[in-house]
Amino acid sequence: METILADMTKSIDPDLMAHAGRIIRSGGLVAFPTETVYGLGGDALDPDASRKIYAAKGRPCDNPLIVHIAQMSALDAIVSGIPAAASALADAFWPGPLTMIFHKSDLVPKETTGGLDTVAVRMPSHPAALELIRQGGGYIAAPSANTSGRPSPTRASHVYEDLNGKIDMIIDGGPVGIGIESTIVDLTEEVPTVLRPGFISLEMLRSVLGNVRMDPGLRGDDPAFRPKAPGMKYRHYAPKAPLIIVEGEADNVRSRIQSLALEAEASGGRAGIIATDEDVSFYTNAIVRSAGTREDEITISRRLFSILREFDDLQVSVIYSEAFHTPQLGTAIMNRLIKAAGHQIITAEGGST
Ligand code: TXA
Ligand code: MG
Repeated sequence: METILADMTKSIDPDLMAHAGRIIRSGGLVAFPTETVYGLGGDALDPDASRKIYAAKGRPCDNPLIVHIAQMSALDAIVSGIPAAASALADAFWPGPLTMIFHKSDLVPKETTGGLDTVAVRMPSHPAALELIRQGGGYIAAPSANTSGRPSPTRASHVYEDLNGKIDMIIDGGPVGIGIESTIVDLTEEVPTVLRPGFISLEMLRSVLGNVRMDPGLRGDDPAFRPKAPGMKYRHYAPKAPLIIVEGEADNVRSRIQSLALEAEASGGRAGIIATDEDVSFYTNAIVRSAGTREDEITISRRLFSILREFDDLQVSVIYSEAFHTPQLGTAIMNRLIKAAGHQIITAEGGST
């Protein structure tokens, strides 16, 4: 299949967008930018389109898709009742990087929800995403537009790498703003529960709803608790080289990573280091990439996945990353980094955690 590349980095092209809408309505797949990461879109109400999405990504079909809508009135038809909490959260955070889980209506095929009776819904804020949803019939199922197991795409070139030849069109809207996937909150539980941390933090959710909890399965350190979101149980975003996070006091972290990079070189390898602007000049004998300054957490989240992809291309033998316990986005950034590392964390002061 030939994949059309639609350049909309400067503005939305109405003819190409109308064509993209026709592709979706006739059961095809279009990758598109959102404010979080690029999505791989298909008609959420068409079981065949959902099957095609799973096939293109190589995604296990028990891992449900998020349905994207462009207006609040679209919600009624796909859920069985809108709880008051959902209206309050939608008022506060939609359109935006928040996904809510509802009990689904019969209109939503099980193919889209990975066999579940619940459905995840999000109203993105990116203008190209909203326009595609409108032109595509109002309901677009869209997982992140990466091959399953690779980091989510934050630029159209990442989508091209993974999906060229497998989908009908890629809409290039330039680099995304947030860089990690939406916060997921489950409203089918008695207490609203965060299944995936993201830009909308627990504190922001609590400021609207009061009581909100984190899914205990997210910690990943106790096999008795499994993450409720099926996708959170997979080892995602895994770079090709082993990734190890080094935690601890800043000076110790720097020295430890530097000596680990020297060891890698001495044994014939080459380390990649994920650092911050504050530390980048300290490291030698490695390929060093800064995720940005510690003062600007959104830049760190925006760059993280693209640095992981770059290290795949550069074929480093091992990756060391500083930890990013920043105030608002730290939970979300560390959740992605820890998954990419397959839980390999060491403390600079010695020992493993
Ligand atoms: O920011 C985002 O959410 C991006 C953009 C494209 O909108 N989309 C995205 O989709 O990250 P995906 O498919 O890569 O991740 C969806 C996550 C998976 O972990 C999946 O298991 C979970 O949402 N999920 C979807 N429906 C669910 C449901 N009914 N119950 C529990 N978890 C669900
Ligand atoms: Mg994904």
